Formats: sequence, structure tokens, C-alpha cells
Amino acid sequence: MIQSLRGMNDILSDNYERFEYFINTATTITKRYGFHYIETPLLEETALFKRSVGESSDIVGKEMYQFTDKGGNDVCLRPEGTAGVVRAFVQNKLDKKGGIHRFFYHGSMFRYERPQKGRLRQFHQFGVESFGVASVYEDALMIMMVSDILKALGIGYRLKLNSLGDQHCMPAYREKLVRFIESCGDAICGDCERRKLTNPIRVLDCKNEACQSLYANAPKLIDNLCGECESDFNTLKTILDQHAISYEVDTHLVRGLDYYSKTAFEFVSDNIGSQSAIAGGGRYDRLIEFLDGKPTPAVGFALGIERLMELIVIPEPIREGYYLGAMEEESLPMVLKAAEVLRKRDKAVVEYKPRKLQDHLKGADKINARYCVVVGENERLNNTLWVKDLDEKTESLIPFDDFYKG
Ligand code: HAM
Repeated sequence: MIQSLRGMNDILSDNYERFEYFINTATTITKRYGFHYIETPLLEETALFKRSVGESSDIVGKEMYQFTDKGGNDVCLRPEGTAGVVRAFVQNKLDKKGGIHRFFYHGSMFRYERPQKGRLRQFHQFGVESFGVASVYEDALMIMMVSDILKALGIGYRLKLNSLGDQHCMPAYREKLVRFIESCGDAICGDCERRKLTNPIRVLDCKNEACQSLYANAPKLIDNLCGECESDFNTLKTILDQHAISYEVDTHLVRGLDYYSKTAFEFVSDNIGSQSAIAGGGRYDRLIEFLDGKPTPAVGFALGIERLMELIVIPEPIREGYYLGAMEEESLPMVLKAAEVLRKRDKAVVEYKPRKLQDHLKGADKINARYCVVVGENERLNNTLWVKDLDEKTESLIPFDDFYKG
């Protein structure tokens, strides 16, 4: 029997309900913040990810689904959404147009990682990218959006925050850090040895415990920020305080993608095991020019849908609409007419088979209808409808003409 590939799952109807509930909730909230949907291709030129996510990142270095297509092009299944949205932004000349452009998207991402709980090779993200706002208020807005989405889904979280500096303060910090790493001699792992040369700040989130204890004494980026980065970081913390969003400053939070500067953040859950990051994002003010666009400030985030699935609390479904049925064939026309009127303002589902009252009540319950409308011989002769409100548990006889007029 042919099986799905490792780390690639089907979503069947049970789970789809949660999936759909997540997408609908996140979409509603994101639209309230003024964001618009964007769809970009799953397949892009490999160079796009090399130049954005970065050659030194694990994603580009080890995890890309990369191949040569029949036309000889070096292509790759997208490992994340930001790069494609930036490409679309530049290609559609929105950078030249100026102003503010705010997008959201959702869909599959592909990373050839070692599959485990919460870590898949094909997974889904819901992401947001905002272009044209340099103010740190937009960074705060991103965090508030994630917080709103998680709250609406009943999901608790911890927020980790850091600043990665910018082109003014990062180079000097990098040199300082490299000197520190060199002072550790060969006590560091092979991966860190490599990171020292390619992207030294990545050593700070090395998973090796021996490395971690060494780096406890490493110089911290937030102690080496330039005036602007420091003041932005302080403003961000103040805004979050004002909105009662709690956070921990994590000086070792560097994110696994190379395009970030200034604000970086990650939302984690303590209830889903070791793959605890449920959302991540930050500012990436240089990326648009790295991809040949006009320099444009930008910030965004993405939520990992699979990691959220088991945490989502779906509210009890509320009863809605009407169920209508007849107790005898002759009453069916009245039922159909009532349904026709009701459908103009509400959901109305008709059972065509004549049934006993108890069976109709069961039918109404099954589809979670608020009202059960039944017509039997008595009702037909008296030109009335029997209606039960299944929430209030009240019954009434309503003149058919009243009903028919709406
Ligand atoms: P990321 O941190 O690589 O950021 O991914 C965002 C989220 O996707 C993670 O927090 C996690 O929940 C989920 N995720 C990542 N890899 C996997 C996997 N293998 N299996 C299941 N879930 C996974 C980005 O991708 C950036 N593009 C976010 C961003 C948008 N930054 C600015 N704008």
C-alpha cells in the first residue's frame, strides 16, 4: 500500500473542523486590523530563499525541497511565506508606489526536517506581512494580533522578546561576539565552529548544553544596541505593558532566519512538548532592498497551525435555524411553504418523510436546530404550525398566515 511521505499528513474532516475554525478566527481578526489576503506560489526560484532566509540558516543549508525542473530551473518548495510575499511586493512594484501595504496568507510550507511531534515536513502557517511602517508601533501591533488570535482560540502562551539591532550596531556586536567565541577555544561544538564564520549570532540558540553554559557569559545584544534600536526596544516594551501583554526578554532569541533586524519575537506554549514555538516573527527592514526593491521598512509573523491544533478550544456549537417536518403527506406543502419564507432570513432544513413528533424532535436535535416546526393533521385543519424552541424549551402554535407573512 502506498503511504503518504514521512512528515506529511492528511487532514480529515474531524481535524478539518478545527483547521477551518482556526483559519476563520485568524482571518476575522487580521481583517479587523486592516490586512488583505495575498496568495503566492508554492514553488519559487531557489535563489529567492538563499538571498532572504540566508545561506547560513539551517532552512536553506539543510532543509529545502530543492530540485531542477524540466526547464532546467533551480526551484524550491517554499520553506516559509515571507520571502514569496516580499518577491510579490517588489515584482508588482508596490515598493515604488509607496504607502502602507498589509497582507495576510495561509498555506503549506515545506522543510526537510527530522519529523517528530509538532515538527513536520509539510506544515501550515498563517502569516502576516506589513510594508511601509518604520514605527515600532507596528511591531507592537503584530504582537497584539498574535495575542488576540491566541486569546480568541483559548490558547495560553509565553512571549519571548529580543532586539537584534540594525546595520549601525550589529557589526560591532558581531565582532565582540566572535572574540568571545574565540576565547572559548575548542570547547564549542562543530556547528558553532561553522556558525562563527557564517552567522555568529546563531551560536546563541545552539541546542548543545555545553555550548549553552559557555554562552551564559557571552556579551548580550541588548547591552550593545545603538541609540535608535535601544529607544525602539524600550518603546515596544512600554506599549506592551500598556496593553497588559506580558513578555520575557530572551537575549538568546535570534530566530532561525537571517533577515531580521531590531524586534524579534516568539510565542511559545508549555503544553505541546519540545517543539514549543507556536508563532514567530519580527522586523526585516533590509530584506526588500536585498531582493532588489526600494528600501521599505517591514515587519511580520507566522503562526504554525499544526502546533496550535490540539490547543484550540472550540466553543460549544450554538443552536441555529429551523428544522421543519410533517406528520402526514398532506401537511408537507405547508411545511415547504413555511421553509421557503424562513430561508429568506435564516437557515431552514426540511425533512420530507412524514414522521412522528418525537422523531422530528430527534431530527432537529441532530442538526442542532434552534426551532423544530411540525405540521400534523390538527395544525393543517386549523391552519397553524407547531413550533418548539429547543433552547428555551417552549412550545407554541402559530397561525400559518402570520408565519407566511414573515
Ligand atoms: P518560523 O519561526 O520559521 O518563522 O516559523 C513560524 C512558525 O511555523 C513556528 O513558530 C512554528 O509554529 C511553525 N513551524 C516551523 N517549522 C515547522 C515544522 N517543521 N513543523 C510544524 N510547524 C513548524 C517564519 O517562517 C517566518 N516567515 C515568520 C515571519 C513572517 N517573520 C516575519 N514575517
